[in-house]
Amino acid sequence: MPRRNAELDMSPEQFRELGHRLIDLAADHLRQIGSLPVSTTATPPEVRKAIRSDRGLPETGADPRALLEDAVRLLTQFSLFNGHPKFFGYITSSAAPMGALADLLAGVMNPNLGSWTLAPAATEIELQSVRWIAEFIGFPASCGGLLVSGGNMANFVGFLAARAAKAGWDVRTEGLQAERPRLISYVSKETHTWIQKATDLFGFGTNSIRWIPVDAQQRMQVEDLRKAIADDLARGHKPFLVVGTAGSVSTGAVDPLREIAAVSREHDLWFHVDGAYGAPAAAVVTEEDSLRALSLADSLAVDPHKWLYAPLEAGCALVRNPEHLRNAFSYRPPYYWLNEQVVNLVDYGPQNSRGFRALKVWLMLQQIGREGYIRTISEDIRLSRRFHDLMSRHPQFEPFTQHLSINTFRFVPADLRSGIGSDTVESELNTLNQQLLDRLVNSGETFLSHAVLDGRFALRACIVNFRTSEDDIDAMPDLILRHAGQLSR
Ligand SMILES: Cc1ncc(COP(=O)(O)O)c(C=O)c1O
Repeated sequence: MPRRNAELDMSPEQFRELGHRLIDLAADHLRQIGSLPVSTTATPPEVRKAIRSDRGLPETGADPRALLEDAVRLLTQFSLFNGHPKFFGYITSSAAPMGALADLLAGVMNPNLGSWTLAPAATEIELQSVRWIAEFIGFPASCGGLLVSGGNMANFVGFLAARAAKAGWDVRTEGLQAERPRLISYVSKETHTWIQKATDLFGFGTNSIRWIPVDAQQRMQVEDLRKAIADDLARGHKPFLVVGTAGSVSTGAVDPLREIAAVSREHDLWFHVDGAYGAPAAAVVTEEDSLRALSLADSLAVDPHKWLYAPLEAGCALVRNPEHLRNAFSYRPPYYWLNEQVVNLVDYGPQNSRGFRALKVWLMLQQIGREGYIRTISEDIRLSRRFHDLMSRHPQFEPFTQHLSINTFRFVPADLRSGIGSDTVESELNTLNQQLLDRLVNSGETFLSHAVLDGRFALRACIVNFRTSEDDIDAMPDLILRHAGQLSR
């Protein structure tokens, strides 16, 4: 048969040759990642100049080998490397190399996981990955679930399942009409901004959120939750959803999930747990009974691209009863032709065509197994506690919090220590620590982020990084103080 000589196609030989070249370059990058600056110091105009962003769309093609080499060169020179051993910013993990290889294979095979027929092995791999994640964190393995782009989307899936299950009318058909009672969600003040996006995008409005106060450990105060529910019921509103956070975005705090589950049950509310970051620690943190109580949730979000070290993107939504996913998302338009004997993942979430995110998760879970993950996550927690202890012992630091693998602290120069708590000193400390963070991030030596705790600006380190060693942590006090010494006061 004559082959169509398609310009986008490659001969197998050319693909092999380019693939080998690309893997060589990627391996070189991984070898040197610890000696590169964590982040680029290039300005936006410099980055734009490097990628020649003023170029128009190319009219004609170019040599693929040169294109790939150029892409590697640009990305090596002008990126932030969250895989660097001293990257401690936000909640972004080092990505396991196995995940990168899996993404390459997923792209080659390119199954569409919207329907089982379009992706037989891939769908079963996704379903198995979801079950394994549930098993790992102690959520019932009989749950339904799917992989999505990340924590926001995984939480949206839980939110929408709750909406369909608890509204009390056919909300998918009728929507949120004025004559219906207002549907109210309850979250702690430390809850990630996904809840604002969810209530906003799905038409509830952010005024439908009740922000429940937290205690000194940033955990939801359950008595305030009870009061808020009672107030709303008295006003004729319809409480439908309570969110507990398992590892808050700022400090890693874990809400009292067991108590929240009890309140949800009492009032027949949907109990959703945002474990986007912290849920994997349920497999290891034996002393945190509260974290293990995530097993009581009706739905749960957990991000493989956070503490399971998958390359972006991979979030996971789990729903205790798979029927609730179908009830929230399923449609049967005439142009679908689905095998009804099997799971079609289009029924479980908002996406229609779906990529093969599961392959990386599936392969990584097998690469190191449950025990390997427990060891790796435990080591992140141990290093975070070590960081916290170092800050506690040092006279020029004030440690604040340490939960899971996040610690917060601030730099306090000796002459300001006695004034802590006074408005002027607090304001000066805030300014100093903001400037310090700026310096640190721009130094390329490390990458921290920040938290604001009762108005105090804190530096924040989150270790979801299998490349970080004890030496990296032990170097941090001197590294930070060296930059603090260069601040102009
Ligand atoms: C607790 C929590 N929930 C949700 C999210 C949102 O996750 P993503 O950025 O993957 O959408 C984050 C992100 O850091 C988070 O920490």
